[in-house]
Amino acid sequence: MRKHSLFCVAIVGACLFLLFGFNDQTKRVHTPNMISIAHRGASSFAPENTRSAFHKAVELRADFLECDVHLSKDGELVIMHDAKIDRTTDGSGYIKDYTLAELKELDAGGRFSKEFQGESIITLNELLEEFYDKAGLLIELKNPQTYPGIEEKVVTLLSDYVDSSSIIVQSFDAESMRKIHTLLPDIEVAVLIKPSESILTTKKLDELTSFASYINFNVSFLNKRMVDSVHERGSKVLVWSKKDKRLVSKAQKFGVDGIISDFSSWPTDEPIYLVQE
Ligand code: G3P
Ligand code: CA
Repeated sequence: MRKHSLFCVAIVGACLFLLFGFNDQTKRVHTPNMISIAHRGASSFAPENTRSAFHKAVELRADFLECDVHLSKDGELVIMHDAKIDRTTDGSGYIKDYTLAELKELDAGGRFSKEFQGESIITLNELLEEFYDKAGLLIELKNPQTYPGIEEKVVTLLSDYVDSSSIIVQSFDAESMRKIHTLLPDIEVAVLIKPSESILTTKKLDELTSFASYINFNVSFLNKRMVDSVHERGSKVLVWSKKDKRLVSKAQKFGVDGIISDFSSWPTDEPIYLVQE
């Protein structure tokens, strides 16, 4: 009898371990079928678009890392949000007026906090080399019309990576995304919709979803009917927001496919982790 009880306890213990033992980093929000995307890396915890922010996002188990891409004076694909270096580094002026070597001299961490002082900028090539096998990548081309040839450079770089399902290229510039899709159909592209243009006509939706796998909206300017319209056309929807406390509940209610957020400490003081289990 005692032997039997011990056996039962062992079985129950094993089941509990299988159920919970592998999941000790339980995340706060359980959102099946919804991918979590760290906006500019885990940008509430580390300087945006830096190696530290991307590492933190991996630590927080983001499904994808979002980043923004520009071209340097010598044609290198560099990761930064603004076209100018002033807000996030100790330098001043436009990225396009600096060579990569000059940009690498900048401090891209000190403005965020002393702890990150001396952190340098990262290139898209470096991001791929370091993070491709750790998380998906959502790569945004910033104002691609100001960088002629940027699509060809991105495609050349991405064509070396075999698992195209873990890479999405996005932009507010739909024509640029159409070009990426034509050059490298294996890579999924997303069109970002400006908040002021969030009501898309049937014609526009048909046109965009003919090449874009994702249509991405700011959460404040999205409704369920629009999400359904995109889904009916076989594409997906990602929503982004930095500080909308209702982001998760809205996204769930609308049935979107993923959330792009800063992994901020709102609405409580504890981090929110958005998750697909
Ligand atoms: O991924 C969506 C979001 O990144 C677009 O806005 O200004 O943060 O690049 P922004
Ligand atoms: Ca972005």
